[in-house]
Amino acid sequence: MDPRTASNRAIRAAAGRLQRLNARHPWSHNDAFIPWIMRGLPEHRRTAVDIGCGRGELLTRLAPEFDRVIGCDADADMRAAAARRTVDQPNVSVTGGGWVDFASDDHTGLDLITMTAVLHHLDTPAVLERVEQLLAPGGRFLVVGLARRDTLIDHLWDYASMVTNPIIGIVKHPRPVRDAAPTPPPFPVKEPDLTFTELRRLFDQHLPDSRIRWRLGFRYTAEWTKPADSV
Ligand SMILES: C[S@@+](CC[C@H](N)C(=O)[O-])C[C@H]1O[C@@H](n2cnc3c(N)ncnc32)[C@H](O)[C@@H]1O
Repeated sequence: MDPRTASNRAIRAAAGRLQRLNARHPWSHNDAFIPWIMRGLPEHRRTAVDIGCGRGELLTRLAPEFDRVIGCDADADMRAAAARRTVDQPNVSVTGGGWVDFASDDHTGLDLITMTAVLHHLDTPAVLERVEQLLAPGGRFLVVGLARRDTLIDHLWDYASMVTNPIIGIVKHPRPVRDAAPTPPPFPVKEPDLTFTELRRLFDQHLPDSRIRWRLGFRYTAEWTKPADSV
């Protein structure tokens, strides 16, 4: 057999085994970043907004920390799931219409805006510009995001995430799922258009002193605090 054919077959077989192993030990790459968000909360905690709140996992965690928590999602099924999940948390509300409607309403003085696996669904430069206006001085913008792979560093992070994915899965979900098959994501998904380098440039341009970095779990994180002396 041609060595290249043999090598391609071996890679495909290894990828298949890895996929089956991941399916047996599933974990949420988005929820895994909730502790990172909770560690980065602002000092003042009146109003927090989670854009693209999905099924509301983060809303439930923010509710005890803030006077008011708003979840916003463009998808009606996601909003219904988030509303059900937070039904016993009266300071949480879930609004529709998506980011564009939310951003055009008169929401100023927000203390926290979060976006987990959502920014690549939106017009990133417009979001970064508007976030700066929506936040109160001292307010925080916390992003867990997806970027298109481009550079060698991006690919190295990808490989590191691939290798660690089953290990993290076994730690988080030690009991294997029987007859596991890869399942489609439970919410609307989209491939990212912007590379990490392009995102870094946009964050630097619109939100000076923001911090963006690759993480394991095929995600980057970005954080920014609106200066306390800004108007
Ligand atoms: C990959 S899911 C992430 C959900 C959730 N943040 C999580 O961590 O599991 C992306 C979410 O963004 C929502 N979304 C997409 N476009 C949106 C928009 N323009 N405004 C608000 N939400 C949007 C989708 O409906 C979906 O719930």
